[in-house]
Amino acid sequence: MIDALWGWPPPVLDPAGPYSGKVTTLAWSLFGLGAFVTLVVVFALWVAIKGPDKWKAKLGGERAILLGGVAFPGVVLTALLVWGLTLTASLTEPIHGDEMRIRVTGEMWWFRVQYLDPSGAVVMEDANEIHIPVGRPVVLELESADVIHSFWVPHLSGKKDMIPGRRTLLRIEADRPGEFGGVCAEYCGRQHALMGIVAVAHEDDDFREWYVERNERLVSAGLDITRQVESSSGSGTQGSERSTVTRTGAGANTNSGQQSGRTLFMQSGCAACHRVAGTEANGLAGPDLTHVGSRRTLGAGILPNNRGTLIGWIGDSQSLKPGNRMPSYDMLNADELEAIAIWLEQQK
Ligand code: CUA
Repeated sequence: MIDALWGWPPPVLDPAGPYSGKVTTLAWSLFGLGAFVTLVVVFALWVAIKGPDKWKAKLGGERAILLGGVAFPGVVLTALLVWGLTLTASLTEPIHGDEMRIRVTGEMWWFRVQYLDPSGAVVMEDANEIHIPVGRPVVLELESADVIHSFWVPHLSGKKDMIPGRRTLLRIEADRPGEFGGVCAEYCGRQHALMGIVAVAHEDDDFREWYVERNERLVSAGLDITRQVESSSGSGTQGSERSTVTRTGAGANTNSGQQSGRTLFMQSGCAACHRVAGTEANGLAGPDLTHVGSRRTLGAGILPNNRGTLIGWIGDSQSLKPGNRMPSYDMLNADELEAIAIWLEQQK
C-alpha cells in the first residue's frame, strides 16, 4: 500500500481511470490558475514599488480595481464553483440499474468491505481490499461505524467522507489493471495514519475468476453467490432470490496442523470478533477473515501479509498498532501462534 501511495508520479497526478482523470484535470487547472495569479500579483507589486509613474497611476485607477478585483475573481471563481460541483455530482450520482456495488464501512481503524448484489444484499465480505473489474464503473456505498472517516484512493476517484448514520456514494473506475493504494483521509483517532486500503483492478476475465474462486469456497461453506455474479454482470435482477445463508462444517479436508490451528482459533476467543464463513466463527466486530489468506496486507495496509506478520499481529497487535481493538494474544506460545497463522493462511 505504501509503495502504491508514495510512488512517482504522485497518485493524485497519475489518474488510472476516468473519475480520477477529471479530478486531476481540475487540479492542474487550479495549479495553473494559481501560478498565473501569483505572477500577476508579483508583477503588480513590482509596478507599485518600482514601476514607471504612468503604470502606477493605472494600477491605482478604478478600472484596474473593477477588472482585477471584481470581474476577474467573480468570473473565475464562479466558473470553478460550477466545474467543481458538476464534477462532484458526476462522482456521486444515484445508483442506476445493474451497476456493481460495494459497501465500504470505515471503522477505527480499518475498512469493512461488502460486495452487494443489485438489490443491495451482502454477498461477500472482506476487509481493507477491494477488487474491481477494469473498465467498469463501480459504486461505493460509504458508511461509518463510529466516527467520520474519509475514503480516498487517489488513482481511482476523488475523496469522500464516511459519515456515521449516513450513506454517501462514490464512483470509482480503473482503466488499467493494477494495485492502487488508498488511505483514510479524515483524522479519526490515534491510528488514523495507519488506516489503509488497497484497490485491485483486474482484467474482466481475471475478475470473474477471482469472484468464482471465492464463490467455490463459499459454496463449500454453504453459501452460494453464483447468482449474484450473473446478475451483477447485467442479466438478472432476482436479488431477492439470494440463497439462504447456512453454515455447515468446514467441509474441506483438514490435516492435523490445520485442525489444531482452527481449534486454537475457536478456543482463544478469536471467533467472538471475527467471522470465517463455513465455521462457527461468526463475530462481527472485527474484519471478516473468510478470505484473509489472500489479502495483500495485514492490519489495514500496514504490513505485508505472510505467516511471519500473521504471527506477529496475533501475538502483539498492540505494539504494531497501539489502541486498536484487537488485544495482543501474548498468552499463546510460538507454536500455537504459528498453528493459527497457518490455518488463517489457508482461508482464501
Ligand atoms: Cu479513519 Cu482517519
